[in-house]
Amino acid sequence: MGVGGVFYVTTPIYYPNDLPHIGHAYTTVFADVLARWYRLRGYDVFFLTGTDEHGLKLQRAAEKKGVKPKEFVDRMVPEFKRYWRLLEISYDRFIRTTDADHEEVVKRALEKLYSKGLIYRGTYRGWYCSSCEKFYSEGEYEEVDERKVCPIHRKDLEWVEEETYFLKLSAYEDEVLRLVRDTDIVHPRGYAREIASKLEKEGLRDLSIARPKSRVYWGVELPFDRDYVVYVWIDALLNYVTGVGYGEDGRFEKYWPAVHHVIGKDILWFHTAIWFAVLRMLDIPPPRKVLVHAFIINRGLKMGKSVGNVVMIDDMLERYGSADAVRYILMRLLNLEKDVEFDAEQLDNMYNGELADTYGNLVRRLGVLSRKKLGGVVRRGEIDEELRELAEETIKVVPRLVESYEISEGLVRTFDLLRAVNAYLNRTEPWRAENPEPILYNAIEATRIATTLLHPVLPTVTRKVAESLGFEIVRIDDLRYGEPEKFRVKEAPILFKKVKPSSQ
Ligand code: MSP
Repeated sequence: MGVGGVFYVTTPIYYPNDLPHIGHAYTTVFADVLARWYRLRGYDVFFLTGTDEHGLKLQRAAEKKGVKPKEFVDRMVPEFKRYWRLLEISYDRFIRTTDADHEEVVKRALEKLYSKGLIYRGTYRGWYCSSCEKFYSEGEYEEVDERKVCPIHRKDLEWVEEETYFLKLSAYEDEVLRLVRDTDIVHPRGYAREIASKLEKEGLRDLSIARPKSRVYWGVELPFDRDYVVYVWIDALLNYVTGVGYGEDGRFEKYWPAVHHVIGKDILWFHTAIWFAVLRMLDIPPPRKVLVHAFIINRGLKMGKSVGNVVMIDDMLERYGSADAVRYILMRLLNLEKDVEFDAEQLDNMYNGELADTYGNLVRRLGVLSRKKLGGVVRRGEIDEELRELAEETIKVVPRLVESYEISEGLVRTFDLLRAVNAYLNRTEPWRAENPEPILYNAIEATRIATTLLHPVLPTVTRKVAESLGFEIVRIDDLRYGEPEKFRVKEAPILFKKVKPSSQ
């Protein structure tokens, strides 16, 4: 797709039972970087995030606080918005599953499924984890001293035996398997293989999609039986279609074919087996991509509230001083396939070495030299071929990397260019050169290119660099080395203050 394409990106909608932490920020910043990237490529972008507010988990969290669930979530939502604002998350809509248009979509979807004969009554017996909001079957749960334990939260499962409604997922087993195994929807492919083999081994069982109100009252009522509320995951997944106006306006037809779901690997089954089947039942095409990432781990375990090893967003912001720095660190760590350990020393080194030394010092140096030597006006002269070649290579390679979701590698390659500019300055010594202007032009020009490519990850700092060195951030497709005739350098900013390395 060229300029003028459409890009729709979503994050999971988070449970607002507690504050978001760095694990949630990891997903959200990743999605934000993709949204900003495609905007900078001139695409028509829609970016959806939000909160998953119904279900037993939220009902209990509210009860614990002694307030009504709605009151509780109403208090938590501004906190999420505040964190996303602090991290400069540029979402187009913050959806809540308690939004009226969403509840309407859920009801309409259920009616459709019911009238198609895809929902039937039955009895469910099984083990439930309210932290996952998920039933566990034999072989999935762990057994500790004859107790059935959730493999993720390590707490006892609850026995549930109740009259319910089932959704006929089993009828779509072959189709779902085909979508997972034979298309490129699920990325990276290792996750597709994992789900395909689970489907091949265990098949796709019908899913209990309702809970009796006597047990779970906090949810969307089933339109055909008011004694029940819909299972929270069905409610939650549908947010992705509500978010772009499903059944309401032309937006849905425009954005849906371009939908990219960014998720952590913990919720892969829901976003493939269950979601693909539900979409098929509703005659909605499957998503364009499900982009899966692994976990941030701390002391060997997935960072999570139940484990008690979370790093809070505030602490990171405080340590590194800006949203940009936190975003950069998260994206340098980003690994779709492997869990990454949150190692304080490594983060400090990334921050000090890459942001403060390589980028910050370079910009500072360029600002000081241009003003001192040339009064701030740096005109185009002889082009340095070596730097030009490297910069043009970077303009080609980085988009390829970002658009195959290798953000970290894209950053490394962009920083290779910045390191090359530093080396070029050390070699050519413009501070004592007879004619420093062409040197400074080439150095600023290569820095302009790197700065533009960094803009989606570092939105504020790059704007500051552009302003200080006197250029505009242009669309990525319009980036060409040697384009500006001159730079009007205004100041020599200090972008990042170094931190004292933590000694652990
Ligand atoms: N409400 C469901 C999602 C419904 S989407 C239709 C849910 N919410 S959650 O609050 O538990 O968020 C889970 C997501 O948060 C993960 O899929 C992942 O994107 C992110 N992460 C939470 N902890 C994480 C780590 N330690 N590491 C990486 N991502 C993490 O599940």
